[in-house]
Amino acid sequence: MSTPLYSIPGAPVVAGAEATPAPAAAPAPEASAPRTVGEVLAETQAGRVLEELDRSLVGLAPVKGRIRDIAALLVIDKLRVSLGLRAESPSLHMCFTGNPGTGKTTVALRMAEILHRLGYVRKGHLVAVTRDDLVGQYIGHTAPKTREVLKKAMGGVLFIDEAYYLYRPENERDYGQEAIEILLQVMENQRDDLVVILAGYHDRMETFFRSNPGMRSRIAHHIDFPDYAPEDLLCIAERMLEQQHYRFGSGARAAFEEYLALRIRQPQFANARSVRNALDRARLRQASRLFAERDRALGADDLTTLSVADIRGSRVFAAAATAPL
Ligand SMILES: Nc1ncnc2c1ncn2[C@@H]1O[C@H](COP(=O)(O)OP(=O)(O)O)[C@@H](O)[C@H]1O
Ligand SMILES: [Mg+2]
Repeated sequence: MSTPLYSIPGAPVVAGAEATPAPAAAPAPEASAPRTVGEVLAETQAGRVLEELDRSLVGLAPVKGRIRDIAALLVIDKLRVSLGLRAESPSLHMCFTGNPGTGKTTVALRMAEILHRLGYVRKGHLVAVTRDDLVGQYIGHTAPKTREVLKKAMGGVLFIDEAYYLYRPENERDYGQEAIEILLQVMENQRDDLVVILAGYHDRMETFFRSNPGMRSRIAHHIDFPDYAPEDLLCIAERMLEQQHYRFGSGARAAFEEYLALRIRQPQFANARSVRNALDRARLRQASRLFAERDRALGADDLTTLSVADIRGSRVFAAAATAPL
């Protein structure tokens, strides 16, 4: 599934629910029928999802490696079960740390699909929430709110963005603590049907875990999402354009490379998200440019090409000209 997920602040986002139906439960083979890893990957189509993850996401080598390790664990677990070698299902709660726009939400969606394909969770949907979706404003509101979200997420992945906001040490009677306690319980008791992924900045998450050792001990996999290198960002830009039937015209790619070099040094730089936003604005400028030409018939080339001017029209260039670094 390649649809990106756009979080709607304040509303739990349910995605992936349209994912292909659950793989038909394979008839439990006799204990004498050893299978290959390839067979399990093909039969569950998890192999396809892993390949698609590799192909569609630029960079992220360490992240992809960790996801493959987790998939390997699940495949081997499946093979063990099919030979009658039962074991407690592995704990798969995860923590994704990294700066904004480094691909955490995107990878969580793929993770949900892999977990589903390999039969770890029933449905494979992802419910993305923040503190406000879990914690109430008044006494007695938090538990029902948290339980409602958990109910929605059962059988899939609960993605808690900026999870550290659940804990507010400055406020002694903060209701966040109540949500944390319910989460801890469910993460322990229902871990074969719900995977929780906490996401956020690395340092804040570290502080959160220091104050909440119970939460740290339930997270089996910590995955760090590094910032993208400028060449990765450029490559991401080209992929995004391609997906939307746009392309850089002559010189525009170089202009965007310059744009990135300036934008990276600015505050609020958010990796691939900033790339997406910059391209959206460039498309807007392209549209205005074409819109002004009332009498020319516009061909596919005109409609798909971002020109140097569309890129250079960004405020980032103007700001750099007046405020040398
Ligand atoms: N490695 C990548 N390759 C291609 N596009 C990416 C990559 N990482 C992120 N994106 C895109 O960038 C945007 C922000 O990614 P997202 O997963 O929301 O980041 P985060 O959750 O870390 O803030 C999304 O539109 C996503 O599709
Ligand atoms: Mg996100």
